[in-house]
Amino acid sequence: MKTETISRELMLIDGEWTEAVSKEFFQIESPAKRGSVIAEVPKANAADVDIAVNVANKAFKSWKRVPARERGKLLWKISDAIEEQFEDLARTIATETGNALYTQAKGEVKGAADVIRYFGGVAGELKGETMPVDNNLFAYTQREPYGVVGGIIPWNSPFQLAALKIAPAIAAGNTIVLKAAEDAPLAVLKLAKICSEYLPAGVVNILTGFGEECGLPLAKHPLVKKLTFTGSTQTGRIIMHEAADRIIPISLELGGKSPQIVYPDADSNKVIKNVISAMRFARQGQSCSAGSRLYLHKSIYDSFLGKLIGNLKLLKVGDPLDENNDIGCIINEKQFNKVCNYIEEGINHKDTELLLGGLPPKDGPLSEGYYLEPTVFASPHDDLRIAKEEIFGPVLIVIPWEDEKEVIEMANRSDYGLAAYIWTNDTTRAMRTANQLESGWVQINRGAGMLTGHSYGGFKQSGMGREYSLESMIDSFTQTKSIMVDFDE
Ligand code: NAI
Ligand code: MG
Repeated sequence: MKTETISRELMLIDGEWTEAVSKEFFQIESPAKRGSVIAEVPKANAADVDIAVNVANKAFKSWKRVPARERGKLLWKISDAIEEQFEDLARTIATETGNALYTQAKGEVKGAADVIRYFGGVAGELKGETMPVDNNLFAYTQREPYGVVGGIIPWNSPFQLAALKIAPAIAAGNTIVLKAAEDAPLAVLKLAKICSEYLPAGVVNILTGFGEECGLPLAKHPLVKKLTFTGSTQTGRIIMHEAADRIIPISLELGGKSPQIVYPDADSNKVIKNVISAMRFARQGQSCSAGSRLYLHKSIYDSFLGKLIGNLKLLKVGDPLDENNDIGCIINEKQFNKVCNYIEEGINHKDTELLLGGLPPKDGPLSEGYYLEPTVFASPHDDLRIAKEEIFGPVLIVIPWEDEKEVIEMANRSDYGLAAYIWTNDTTRAMRTANQLESGWVQINRGAGMLTGHSYGGFKQSGMGREYSLESMIDSFTQTKSIMVDFDE
């Protein structure tokens, strides 16, 4: 390994590039090649959190007074700068996450620029209300920011999620301390650089560090007045306890095990391509909204599965930076082993049949990184771990169904409720089903990602609060003050 190519990055606090108080760093690896260190970043802990939160708290005093539309204009500049650095940002994301440049990383940069521009545009829509009361009374509300927002994000689409936390928080007049994921902080630090060029010091502060050592003190800090978290349900629960201790609001975007329901009339190539997209195979299944339970109607079971497997075989797995590849690799060894354990369990289960993929190759180029082929299991029922738990890997389980009422029951039999997909041209049936699904997001004949401007978030243990929309910005990042004026003489 050539150490001279390893860059040493710094964190952004108060507009300055800084090391951790401890002076410690940790290494970032590329999952495309085991053991290949690509950079070092500061290992922040509670001491750094305390500095960053205090700085953000100081910056809040003047940032909240900047007119909302002026704040919005600064976000547009950030958006433009992201687009100017499009290629470099996409390559950074692909290198650190293992997400394929062509199918994923480029789209992620575009998506982030889009989200930031959107919130810049709606910043002026933080309007209050008035209500008719007595003749001599005037009652109105105003929307006010909370103060310092503590944001914690995962590694699966780090750049997009950083944008999704920063933009609505600061557009609404808050300041933010954001902890990047320990596996993928590099593109987020590039976003920090762009932010630092257009925003006053202290409005956006980015820390690099681990969960318990840096994320937890951020969640606990008394000057943090709002928490926003994306990641596992398990960690979300821990952070929610911290919010409860200080009675502060929290938004959680957590895990999922999302159902896809295929009706008899949907046995087409177009549907199959969308089903593959909904399963987020091109992100190695590392998405909270992956449609990982495929309920296939019995009447088309064999024909649909044949075509699905045929289409999946065409996808190319390999080096995320090679634009001929559709699918990259799993983020790290821990996640890779976790996914492999689920695959092994599926292989050994008496009720399942492995239709495609399986355990990773032991030699050849794909064994050099954390690569897995798209993997498909069939099972006559969904009462098994691989059909219930979030695998966060490219593993799809297919279950046959016959009766609509029964399939809706199966789809709803989950602690999660993030996304759901319905495949049929029968609108009545589709809408009846959509109406009954316990899910925060239902798509009919569409497998693509979120639409900026449309609220997104989970039912049940998939989370609380919404993101991506004006309404979500108002609900999540402002609080209402009611003001009453008596103008009687
Ligand atoms: P995680 O939820 O533990 O980590 C997400 C973020 O939380 C990271 O920035 C991490 O440093 C931070 N964190 C971890 N423990 C913390 C704590 N005690 N206090 C404060 N912050 C903490 O997720 P992880 O370990 O990366 O992945 C585990 C599983 O979580 C995955 O297999 C997947 O099932 C799920 N996951 C779901 C995601 C989603 O988008 N809903 C994203 C990433 C993971
Ligand atoms: Mg964890």
